[in-house]
Amino acid sequence: MIHFFQVTKRYPGGQTALDRVSFEIARGQFVFLTGASGAGKTSLLRLIFREDVPDEGQILVNGRNVSSIPPSKIPYLRRTIGVVFQDFRLIPRKTVFENVTYLPRILGSDSKSQKKLAYAALRRVGLAHRGNAFPLELSGGEQQRVAIARALINEPEILIADEPTGNLDPDLSWEILRLFLEVNLRGTTVLLATHDRDMIQRVGRRVLTLDAGRLVNDQEFPGTDPPSLEVPPATGPDTAEADAEPVESETP
Ligand SMILES: Nc1ncnc2c1ncn2[C@@H]1O[C@H](COP(=O)(O)OP(=O)(O)OP(=O)(O)O)[C@@H](O)[C@H]1O
Ligand SMILES: [Mg+2]
Repeated sequence: MIHFFQVTKRYPGGQTALDRVSFEIARGQFVFLTGASGAGKTSLLRLIFREDVPDEGQILVNGRNVSSIPPSKIPYLRRTIGVVFQDFRLIPRKTVFENVTYLPRILGSDSKSQKKLAYAALRRVGLAHRGNAFPLELSGGEQQRVAIARALINEPEILIADEPTGNLDPDLSWEILRLFLEVNLRGTTVLLATHDRDMIQRVGRRVLTLDAGRLVNDQEFPGTDPPSLEVPPATGPDTAEADAEPVESETP
């Protein structure tokens, strides 16, 4: 599903962010990416969704060489990859509903199917009742759940998260992590970058460790205290929230 062959990334100024990194992630896996600040985690993730290209080596995502995808085809790649960031990146003047439907709107889906997709995604993160709220009316954990719903709206095959719990307290972090694990149980491949060694130890799973741009460890951990997970239904029946009229906010 994700294949790195001897990938090197250098930034202008001579910084080598990734140094001949090779690994393979199979469909349906849940993998942590860890390493100290500056080790290359964000650089690695950005290459997967073609936010950047490597200087050497090859990256295959779903069998396609991402460096050779022409710019006009990049949106098709991004449709299969959901991305979640540490700072949520929600648009403050748009409602939760509008934030979540950003991508389907760009892709030209009609408003009825946007609504259906949005409420299905919001139900998965437990926020279907907050569709009309604005991001700043939500807690940090809720904002991150909205960002996850936005990433899930197109049922991506791969979910990439760059320190998604970095701005959250331990209880909320645990709740957000559980959400990623549940998304994975439903078949989505997840790659999650984190500094949080305690979290990794508790949960277990495969862990890729970067050190100064080199992949220094690729190991499976058993998990000392893994959470119990619930797998939400793939497509539940439309509930009352789905019929509630979303309120359009004013465009700034
Ligand atoms: N746009 C850039 N231009 C130049 N150097 C960069 C750029 N982005 C990252 N770097 C450098 O590349 C190296 C890897 O950075 P990266 O952001 O991938 O690390 P990280 O593991 O995500 O760190 P953190 O845990 O702090 O987020 C660092 O030395 C960083 O200074
Ligand atoms: Mg980073």
